[in-house]
Amino acid sequence: MKNITIQTGNCEESEQLNILLEQHIETTIFLQRCHWNITGSAFLTLHQMFEQAYLDYFKIQDEIAERIRILGGYVNFVHTERIQALNTNLHDQNTSDREIIQSAIECHDMNAQLAEECVKTASKYEDLVSEDLCVSLISMYQKFGWMLRSLLSQRS
Ligand SMILES: [Fe+2]
Repeated sequence: MKNITIQTGNCEESEQLNILLEQHIETTIFLQRCHWNITGSAFLTLHQMFEQAYLDYFKIQDEIAERIRILGGYVNFVHTERIQALNTNLHDQNTSDREIIQSAIECHDMNAQLAEECVKTASKYEDLVSEDLCVSLISMYQKFGWMLRSLLSQRS
C-alpha cells in the first residue's frame, strides 16, 4: 500500500496560493460593492448575480487558506494593486454599468489565470488535492465570467 504523506514546507505552492487567495479576497469585496452599487435596467439580475458570486467566492476562500496551512505555509499575503485599482474605480459615480461588468469580468479572468498557474505547480509536486481545489476554482471563475459576458453580448 502506498504511503500518503502531505508535503510540508512547499514554498512555491504556498506562495502561489497566497497570491491567489489575496486576489480572490479582493475580488470578493469588489463583487460585494458591485452588488450594492449597480443600477440600471438590468439591476435585479446583476444585483442577484453579484450576490451569488461574492457568496460563492466567500465560501471557498477558507479552503484556499487552509490548503496553504496544510502545505506547511502561512497565510501571509500583501495587497495587490490590480484589484485595488478596480475597487477605486467604483468610487466614481460616473462609472457605467457596462464598465462595472467589464471590471468584474477582468477580476474573474485574472483569478482563473492565477489558479491555472497554481494547477501547474501543484501538478509538478504531484499534489492532487491542491490541483483539484484550483481546478474547481477555475470552473467557478469561468462560470461567473461567462454569465457576465452573456449579459453584455447582444444578438444582431
Ligand atoms: Fe444584499
